[in-house]
Amino acid sequence: MRQGSRWRTPALLGVGMAAAALVGCGPDAGPGIAPSPPEPVPSVSPLPTLDPDDVALGRQVYLQNCASCHGANAQGAPSWTQPDARGNLPPPPHDDSGHTWRHGDAELAGIIRNGMRDVFNRTPELTMPPFEDRLSDEEIVAVIAYFKSLWSDEHRRFQEEQTQRPAMPMATPAGER
Ligand code: HEC
Repeated sequence: MRQGSRWRTPALLGVGMAAAALVGCGPDAGPGIAPSPPEPVPSVSPLPTLDPDDVALGRQVYLQNCASCHGANAQGAPSWTQPDARGNLPPPPHDDSGHTWRHGDAELAGIIRNGMRDVFNRTPELTMPPFEDRLSDEEIVAVIAYFKSLWSDEHRRFQEEQTQRPAMPMATPAGER
């Protein structure tokens, strides 16, 4: 969960570009013969459109439940990468400067529902409180949509890839905690 350690955006584009160079108009597309259109290049899929109602609801949910710790503009606590006086990591940002965008939807919903603490925190309590008794599934989906509205296309695309991936073995099975 620490910044800069585990993750790196995969370089996916190189192969597609090389293929595109090979299927372009060749020298033997003579006069009168319509050149065949280039093969569609499998590159980045379009991002799913965000529902503005979800984003608006999510922002409202965020301001009421999350902003007191994560900041009114989701900017996180100052010095959020350093443990606080109690030896615990402070609330991180949810905008592009944090790492919320590195987690897929299911993982984010799990953190919001069940809460979390950094494994290196000094104290045992969940510093990120669980919201399962306070927020409906719809509100959790909405707050995640609000986060997505804060991210660059590049980060949204990365997050979308994480969302589409099969669950990691360490993820908690549905229905259990
Ligand atoms: C009492 C303060 C507090 C409140 C309120 C709070 N959080 Fe957090 N949240 C934290 C802390 C602290 C962490 C970091 C935990 C850690 O890494 O040790 C965190 C972490 C997270 C993470 C994980 C981010 C990542 O990149 O790993 C998400 C997602 C998150 N919070 C969402 C929310 C949402 C959504 C709400 C409101 C519904 C909310 N939080 C309310 C304190 C809070």
